Amino acid sequence: MFLSRPLVFASLLLVVSGQRFVRFLSTDGKEYYGDAILPHNTTDAAHSTTANVITGDILGDFTITKEVKKIEKLLAPLPSERVRTVRMVGLNYVAHINETNATIPGWPILFYKPWTSLNTPSDPIPISPGYQNQTDFVSTMDYETELVVVIKKKAFNITDEEALDHVLGYTVGHDVSHRGWQIDRGGLPQPQFSMGKGADGWAPWGPAIVSTSIIPDPQVLNLWTKVNGVTMQNDTTANMIFGVAHLVSFFSMGTTLLPGDVIFTGTPKGVNLGKVDPVWLTNGDVVEVGLENVGTCTNQLKYVP
Ligand SMILES: *[C@@H]1O[C@H](CO)[C@@H](O)[C@H](O)[C@H]1NC(C)=O
Ligand SMILES: *[C@@H]1O[C@H](CO)[C@@H](O)[C@H](O)[C@H]1NC(C)=O
Ligand SMILES: *[C@@H]1O[C@H](CO)[C@@H](O)[C@H](O)[C@H]1NC(C)=O
Ligand SMILES: *[C@@H]1O[C@H](CO)[C@@H](O)[C@H](O)[C@H]1NC(C)=O
Ligand SMILES: *[C@@H]1O[C@H](CO)[C@@H](O)[C@H](O)[C@H]1NC(C)=O
Ligand SMILES: *[C@@H]1O[C@H](CO)[C@@H](O)[C@H](O)[C@H]1NC(C)=O
Repeated sequence: MFLSRPLVFASLLLVVSGQRFVRFLSTDGKEYYGDAILPHNTTDAAHSTTANVITGDILGDFTITKEVKKIEKLLAPLPSERVRTVRMVGLNYVAHINETNATIPGWPILFYKPWTSLNTPSDPIPISPGYQNQTDFVSTMDYETELVVVIKKKAFNITDEEALDHVLGYTVGHDVSHRGWQIDRGGLPQPQFSMGKGADGWAPWGPAIVSTSIIPDPQVLNLWTKVNGVTMQNDTTANMIFGVAHLVSFFSMGTTLLPGDVIFTGTPKGVNLGKVDPVWLTNGDVVEVGLENVGTCTNQLKYVP
């Protein structure tokens, strides 16, 4: 009892220090890293209007300063060239596997998106003509909300127990998908993923990387998708087949995971692909993907020439 007070005090200080890592444009036109200051009534950093400036490298040594800057616009939490590798997990929720008539994989299913697919938490998702309606080929645009893991430390051949120690934190991502290019033109019976998912801007992520000190357990979080304000997916990361620790450990089997690498961990049930009467996304639709205690990305589909 005697000793517990200073400990409680210390842990309160840790909580207060925050660490919702954001990158943003401020009113002076410059770009900053920051620790988002949340409004009183939400944990969604997308609604933050100010942040404490962070100096140094959020993937290495950094300092959260007392300087507060206005947030003009949130950018992706890291620049694309610092991310380098965008790993994507397919088929990681049983009910989603069922709705798509796939079989439960014995090992995590991995594919990649290029850096150029990364997008901010608010900019439009460009849909180029090859992904729009064509004669006899319907534009089957779909949404997928996912928990995203951000790697902090180099990892090679690490165990599940060591895995979370290599993680900076978690954010939410949108695995934008065109089912026609993914499946129908993907070389059935086995689909390919990349042509259906890797186009420019098809991986919005953010709004903040929420540190593992705020989210010690990534397997208890609600995640959802809203299309034009209507909830389409609403599930929990508890339903993942392969949890975050195992994914990080498994992907490090023979491949070095580098600081800044991100892993999208798969989507739960509720996608258009699994519906009897899908309403495919089209020009102008607004898609919000959300993760509890992390926030939302809200992006509009935009047909481009
Ligand atoms: C939070 O409070 C602000 C005003 O302080 C209000 O505009 C906003 O709608 C509130 N948001 C929620 C989610 O309650
Ligand atoms: C599996 O999907 C079918 C539709 O394809 C649905 O009727 C059934 O309820 C689903 N089962 C589970 C366990 O989600
Ligand atoms: C899954 O199988 C059911 C029953 O055969 C079918 O109606 C449905 O369209 C299939 N869904 C997908 C995504 O292939
Ligand atoms: C694309 O074609 C489908 C099927 O004919 C139609 O429902 C949809 O409205 C078309 N979308 C656009 C943007 O024309
Ligand atoms: C991977 O780690 C295990 C111990 O966890 C070790 O036995 C094995 O030699 C390591 N493999 C490589 C390629 O480093
Ligand atoms: C998801 O479901 C939970 C529990 O039913 C509910 O409280 C929450 O509001 C739902 N979220 C969305 C975005 O619809």
